[in-house]
Amino acid sequence: MPTDDASLARARRILTQRLESLSRAGVMQIGKLPPPVEGLKAAISNQSLAGQAGSLPHVPPPPTLRKEPDMPRAKAVPVGPAAGSLLRQPYPPNVEGKDARTVALDLINSGEVKGCKLCRELAAYRTQTVFGVGAVTPRVVLFGEAPGADEDKQGEPFVGRAGQLLNKIIEACTWKREEVYILNTLKCRPPDNRPPEPHELANCRPFWERQLEILQPDYIVCLGTHAAQSLLETGEAIGRLRSKFFTYRGSKVIATYHPSYLLRSPDAKKLVWDDMQMLLKDMGVEIPKKAS
Ligand code: URA
Repeated sequence: MPTDDASLARARRILTQRLESLSRAGVMQIGKLPPPVEGLKAAISNQSLAGQAGSLPHVPPPPTLRKEPDMPRAKAVPVGPAAGSLLRQPYPPNVEGKDARTVALDLINSGEVKGCKLCRELAAYRTQTVFGVGAVTPRVVLFGEAPGADEDKQGEPFVGRAGQLLNKIIEACTWKREEVYILNTLKCRPPDNRPPEPHELANCRPFWERQLEILQPDYIVCLGTHAAQSLLETGEAIGRLRSKFFTYRGSKVIATYHPSYLLRSPDAKKLVWDDMQMLLKDMGVEIPKKAS
């Protein structure tokens, strides 16, 4: 089977076009992604056979469009020597050293988010979009509100003061920042850090919905009112949403106070720690004695 650069580039182009056309057709979710190495091998092999036979090139079937309802979910990592990592099994690396989830996320980011002008005010105001960062096979996703000045400058969520506090929460849970995935309800910084407008939340929703569909985390932590209300599609106050579990498309969800709120109201840190302890217990992670 030929595996030269031209064939690989061609196979990659076909997969890219397929994903882009699904996106143009309004497909907002993809279910279980095919193993990338096999998908690429099939594309390369079919391309070369089709070329010999002079027939139309065969394109491998697209990823399933819906999540299978009984898709096996990762078990809680048991406490013990093997419990070191929060990461689930990575997808096999593909030929360019990127796994299928990374490729799919990159396509959304570079193909759609970076140039998005759906919210005219935000697009004019932003320095850059802030897509999301972290492990692509995370057990835990942290879902915030919107980029602030620091995030707008650096292109990464939660890198300012609220981000430093979030890092402390992550450490208190015995995790590493690079083991979780962090994203926001909005990809652009609202002017003067005002709260997101309903139409902005609606415009950005398909992006984070598709990110979550690709990431398939076991747990999602909604940080603050806007994240919790958007994800759970409710108008309920954060104080009433915290301290219980919800589900979102197969992921368990908790809501807690936003780190920016904790900067203004440090007394609420205790409540956030209670929420995180509830999450850790459910994950089967040994609960650290003290939060920092
Ligand atoms: N607040 C958020 O909600 N998200 C960020 O990325 C930074 C601050």
